[in-house]
Amino acid sequence: MSAADGPVLEARSLVKDFPLRGGVLRVGPRRRWLRAVDGVSLALAPARVLALVGESGSGKSTMARLLAFLERPDSGQVLLDGKRAEPRRARAHRRHVQVVFQDPFASLNPVHTVRHHLARPLLIHGQASRRQVVAAAAEMLRRVSLEPVDQFLDKLPHQLSGGQRQRVAIAAALAAGPRVLLADEPVSMLDVSIRLGILNLLQGLAAEQRLAVLYITHDIASARYFADTVGVMYAGRMVELGPAEELVARPGHPYTRLLIAAAPEGRSGAPEPLPQRAGGEMGRKDKGCPFASRCPLVMARCREQRPPELALGPGRWAACWLHERGGTNGLRGPGDPSQAVVLTGGL
Ligand SMILES: Nc1ncnc2c1ncn2[C@@H]1O[C@H](COP(=O)(O)OP(=O)(O)OP(=O)(O)O)[C@@H](O)[C@H]1O
Ligand SMILES: [Mg+2]
Repeated sequence: MSAADGPVLEARSLVKDFPLRGGVLRVGPRRRWLRAVDGVSLALAPARVLALVGESGSGKSTMARLLAFLERPDSGQVLLDGKRAEPRRARAHRRHVQVVFQDPFASLNPVHTVRHHLARPLLIHGQASRRQVVAAAAEMLRRVSLEPVDQFLDKLPHQLSGGQRQRVAIAAALAAGPRVLLADEPVSMLDVSIRLGILNLLQGLAAEQRLAVLYITHDIASARYFADTVGVMYAGRMVELGPAEELVARPGHPYTRLLIAAAPEGRSGAPEPLPQRAGGEMGRKDKGCPFASRCPLVMARCREQRPPELALGPGRWAACWLHERGGTNGLRGPGDPSQAVVLTGGL
């Protein structure tokens, strides 16, 4: 595989611990930590979209922040073009790896015009001279379909609609000339009617500009439509990874199954709520599977041994003991032939 085909950005076994509330003032062994990201690896390739899904607190945003060096990993590596990237060179790194956040208001300065928001990254990252900046800013607006551009360049953030603001935030991210875009719930604060347009824009940018895109969402249905690959996170760990359609059609991990069952489009009949998590932080512990306490198919060993990434097929795995060769096949529900396909096909 040539370098051009390989991943642009890779995470290898990233770990991030945060001090628990009240823990900051404590020192030594009494200080308590939360492992927000627990040994997660992933790879982002040009012109491809990888979705990270999982419930609140599962570590999705922390993953994005680690990939952009907005947080420093406690261990593990970030590789750009196969070379190890250094957290102390975070600014140079972010020329290539840009983040789009959920709330465009938070990433735009209320006193500055659209022109200013686009000119700044163009100048900082040396993409253009001052004379070229206006033309380049206009081009950025065209790329995010804010036209005619003259109507937008002198507007302030509050003079735009939510969707237009998010398009400006995306244009500002593009102005740095990145190769990777990390979009952390980019549409969750927008009206449902305009979400599709923004997601289509991100997908188009990935395809046309060969951007590698990470799309973080709670919504597994949108992940299925907009991503090539889906990674499912639970309690700081990646529990399943695979091609989007296949993973949603035939989930391999019991947690993924629950996510799909709880999603509006996955419901047949009455909604099936996720079981409540046992008190405290969800299932974080040193040994065993983090999902064991909530898993309807839990086995004795799940509480003792951490399940490895067990292959389910090409580019597909689930960290679940049910998929161990010769293991009991608890995922096969009665009258559910789709499950039989994945389980026999993958084992
Ligand atoms: N700066 C921080 N200090 C302390 N704890 C943090 C910090 N950032 C995140 N956490 C904790 O790390 C865990 C993972 O948080 P993270 O924001 O990555 O989750 P998430 O999957 O993005 O959730 P959501 O879907 O709600 O955005 C949570 O328990 C959170 O409280
Ligand atoms: Mg988040």
